[in-house]
Amino acid sequence: MVTEEADLKKSGYFISIGAGLNQKPLIETANSMGFKTISIDKNDRAVGMDISDVKILESTSEYRKIYSALRHIPLTDKIVGVGTRSFGKATYSAAYVSSKLKLVGTSPEVIKVFEDKKKYLNLLNSHGLKSPKSYQWQSKSSLNKLLNEIDYPVILKPSKGNGKIGIELFQTKEEFKQRLEKNYPDPQKFVLEEFIDGAEITVLGIVNRSEFHLFSITDKWTTPQAPFLEIAHTYPSKYQYLEAEIRIFIQNIILFTKYKNGPFVAEFKIDKNGDLIILECNPEVGGEFLADQMIPNAYNISYFKSYVKMLIGNKFIKPIPKRIPKNQIACIYYYLPAFVRSKIRSIPDFISNPSEKIFFELNLKKENDFADRTNGNNSRIKVIGLTRTDNIQMEAWLEELSTRIEIGF
Ligand SMILES: Nc1ncnc2c1ncn2[C@@H]1O[C@H](COP(=O)(O)OP(=O)(O)O)[C@@H](O)[C@H]1O
Ligand SMILES: [Mg+2]
Repeated sequence: MVTEEADLKKSGYFISIGAGLNQKPLIETANSMGFKTISIDKNDRAVGMDISDVKILESTSEYRKIYSALRHIPLTDKIVGVGTRSFGKATYSAAYVSSKLKLVGTSPEVIKVFEDKKKYLNLLNSHGLKSPKSYQWQSKSSLNKLLNEIDYPVILKPSKGNGKIGIELFQTKEEFKQRLEKNYPDPQKFVLEEFIDGAEITVLGIVNRSEFHLFSITDKWTTPQAPFLEIAHTYPSKYQYLEAEIRIFIQNIILFTKYKNGPFVAEFKIDKNGDLIILECNPEVGGEFLADQMIPNAYNISYFKSYVKMLIGNKFIKPIPKRIPKNQIACIYYYLPAFVRSKIRSIPDFISNPSEKIFFELNLKKENDFADRTNGNNSRIKVIGLTRTDNIQMEAWLEELSTRIEIGF
């Protein structure tokens, strides 16, 4: 009898906005928890479609069409939750559907605030939450005047950007001036900000009823030059000691943006003073194989289970990490193209040594594909996930990993 009751409670459809490779862990989790799944994707061959009970062929950004399709499709059960592992417009669609269907979520107006880095960073700054100093201009001539006031190096990036596309770093006034002469950046579309020298961390969590629940703090290792492609994410963070400050910082973001329910990811720099500086934050699960690979393997908890549970309106229960082996360190490591635009000849398998455990390996390119660092995250060739328990400095391990595979170009 008890099982029947449990099954009854779990009945219903869970909606995933998006059914691509990144959304697969969300759909799989909802399936494993006993829900029927509805997936929305414009690509009928998306990998998540095969494991969904209902497939809706629609772009994840077409929130009105998605809602209309959901209203007209004959369903045998009620819809109990909607979520997404995608980013940007898909998060807006999820919010729109959740508010229309009166499901757990956040109002679409709040999600909109996060669309534009300039907008939300200004808002956070006005409440005393530190982000890089940002320069404002209205026209070519006002930008030219600004040239002498800027502290170099300076970062120029799209205000609605993502995935490391269009990130530029200028070391000197001359370099930046040249760029402006070639191509004037529209102040509506670009952010010009102080370059913060220092380590970078990524923080993942889930917000429920405006309360932030922290899942992970990992160190982010990037190429030294723009577009600062990720080389690795590592656990535990060297900045774990900032946990209390991180929680307070993000709780404040939630307060000032009025974010209610959903995933949350934030990227911070730690400046010369040891202070947290927010670079970017979003009402998203985040990519980089952190929620789907790093968290379950390094922390021994399931992000997606908590996420689905929260969305279907169950009380949020923070998962308790199972015992983590002493001295365990973990990394997600990316192999990037060596040159600006290179044709890939071969991608070898990764061979772990006895002290390592490999939990994830995925080729993101095929032989004969071209890889180009200007494509941001899309230029990645291969990614692996590893844990190990012996005493090795993180730097030494990452250095070693860079030589363990030789991608043929
Ligand atoms: N003001 C800055 N100071 C230092 N590094 C920066 C700054 N802005 C961006 N970066 C670097 O560029 C990366 C990408 O910038 P971000 O704003 O996160 O863009 P995206 O949305 O493409 O991820 C950051 O993770 C960081 O490494
Ligand atoms: Mg970023």
